[in-house]
Amino acid sequence: YLISSHEMLKDAQRRGYAVPAFNIHNLETVQVVARTAARMGSPVILAGTPGTYRHAGVEYLVSICQAAAQQYRIPLVLHLDHHEDEQDIRRKVEAGIHSAMIDASHCPFEENIAKVRSVVTFCHRMGASVEAELGQLGGQEDDLVVDAGHAHLTDPLKAAEFVLRTGIDSLAVAIGTAHGLYKEEPRLDFARLAAIRQQVDIPLVLHGASGVPEADVRRCIGLGICKVNVATELKIAFADAMKAFLGSHPDASDPRQYLVPAMAAMEEVVAAKICMCMSDGKL
Ligand code: 13P
Ligand code: ZN
Ligand code: NA
Repeated sequence: YLISSHEMLKDAQRRGYAVPAFNIHNLETVQVVARTAARMGSPVILAGTPGTYRHAGVEYLVSICQAAAQQYRIPLVLHLDHHEDEQDIRRKVEAGIHSAMIDASHCPFEENIAKVRSVVTFCHRMGASVEAELGQLGGQEDDLVVDAGHAHLTDPLKAAEFVLRTGIDSLAVAIGTAHGLYKEEPRLDFARLAAIRQQVDIPLVLHGASGVPEADVRRCIGLGICKVNVATELKIAFADAMKAFLGSHPDASDPRQYLVPAMAAMEEVVAAKICMCMSDGKL
């Protein structure tokens, strides 16, 4: 059974750590995240963008994640990351996924609220938790591309109204992070995060964590961040290790060989992010 993220994030909020959410793409990425979480006793969220579910297939991903939860006897959340279409979310929740992000952050405020509200009504009836975003991150996450000119930070007062009127379980905030890597170190608006925390009592979510220094993430956790999203750093570790292996073994053709170093490289990143989030031993 794939659980919702409601209790997981509430526990993180109560105990002052964050749950890392790793973007997964296939069998191997799920295996790595699940086995590292089990080894370190860490709660984790497995996240997939619409593109990932298109690539791997919803039923495949649900089955693989359920198998991982059973094998390691750990609670696992499979999450819908940056989903924009309500019908799509409904179909996937009905297929057994109990954690969804409805991203209407590109919409005007009232439209964002209306879309999120509707998804919350459905999801809560199904026992699924809902994350939504106010403000907008720059950068690229899969098909989602936001140029710097359209990125804007979360307004703390609007955030309070947004949470109240939508009934969401967690709020994704824009405080200066971006999807993908950074050309220069990101400058995060910690004062804004503190102001949001004062207005909002539900768990807060940090997107775009790849490339953010550990000290900054830790500071964010101290200011109310309970979920930290990591995608790009995992992809790079996986791809670089595979390229290096194939470069030095040009005749290799067995995926059970060239995927092993790729998985090991990803495992290192997963373990480091679990430590960064202080979620180890919290299961
Ligand atoms: P990064 O690719 O910067 O890690 O962002 C991940 C993310 O926010 C997924 O929703
Ligand atoms: Zn994101
Ligand atoms: Na990033």
